[in-house]
Amino acid sequence: MSEELRFTTDAGLINRLGRELVGRQETALIELVKNSYDADAQNVTVTLERHALVIEDDGSGMTREELIAGFLRLASTLKVSEPRSRLFSRQRAGRKGIGRFSTQRLGEVLRLQTWTNDADPGIELVVDWQKFESGRDLDEVPVYLGAEPPRKRGTIIRIEGLRDDWSDAQIRRCWRGLLALQQPFPVVPVERRPNADPGFKVSFLRDGGLFDDPSLVADFQTEILSHHHALIEFRVDDDGMAEWRISQNSFGPDRGWAKIHHELRDATEPPNYSVLRDVAMKAHYFILAPDLLPNLAYSRVRDTLRAEGGIRLYRNGFRVIRKRCFRATLRRGVIASDDGLYG
Ligand SMILES: Nc1ncnc2c1ncn2[C@@H]1O[C@H](COP(=O)(O)OP(=O)(O)OP(=O)(O)O)[C@@H](O)[C@H]1O
Ligand SMILES: [Mg+2]
Repeated sequence: MSEELRFTTDAGLINRLGRELVGRQETALIELVKNSYDADAQNVTVTLERHALVIEDDGSGMTREELIAGFLRLASTLKVSEPRSRLFSRQRAGRKGIGRFSTQRLGEVLRLQTWTNDADPGIELVVDWQKFESGRDLDEVPVYLGAEPPRKRGTIIRIEGLRDDWSDAQIRRCWRGLLALQQPFPVVPVERRPNADPGFKVSFLRDGGLFDDPSLVADFQTEILSHHHALIEFRVDDDGMAEWRISQNSFGPDRGWAKIHHELRDATEPPNYSVLRDVAMKAHYFILAPDLLPNLAYSRVRDTLRAEGGIRLYRNGFRVIRKRCFRATLRRGVIASDDGLYG
């Protein structure tokens, strides 16, 4: 005769998952931003307020059903059966089904608001992690679900009662931990490929308090682009007149806008282009040498150049991909963006 029994779950498990599995506070925050990546977000803003941490994304959000069957179900394996994201086919970073407990690791209360459509109402989930005490059964501890007025699609995770202090250095480390998921010049869709991944951009801000705007702590500009050795810009105006300039030059004087002699080098007044109009280019020029970059920035800049170096072409706000001809012009050491390259 054997007796049939069940495993039961002590509510203290949540504490184990949050604090012991997730570990460091930086790892915990990175997990939450990875969830935004997996949800096809293009922009994530992490704001460190005085008493709260807020992670806001413009991803796909969660329906009530997804929240209940996914977020509120331990070790749910949706991402194992669906390893690619729905909209941009991203290789999802999540697998284990525990990243959400980072919110427990980071603070005492989770307030998650999520909207799946721009015009529809959203939902809010409030979890008080302090109620998950050892000795209670996990499924006895209530969490609360409410309605939220319509807003644009996305998810806002607000963590209150923070367990740690956050220095700027720690915030920067988090940003760097997310570098591999980011592209330097996102937000520009690719021509004729509406589902092409427009990129993922993470900014970390620190809220200055009641009267001050939040200040930027880490983003692509502060962590990568600001280490360039020069900024080189070109532009062609409405009449085909071409100019260039160099600024933020680490090795010599800057040079203001000067006309480009593209045809007859000895002509006194450079001729205008006959067909080229209204084009601009901005190139961040890097010299990849350990003695010319701050110690900590070197490998980060090197990896970024490896993955993203070269010149990108944009037309009417869309990225144009011309594999062959532009491969040939790739130069290690330059990251170029559109910044208004409209041909
Ligand atoms: N920002 C978000 N936007 C949309 N859905 C989210 C977001 N954050 C979490 N989710 C949902 O909650 C689920 C739980 O996330 P969690 O991080 O715990 O697990 P995972 O990402 O599947 O695996 P891993 O533990 O490896 O990160 C996700 O599968 C996703 O469906
Ligand atoms: Mg995850």
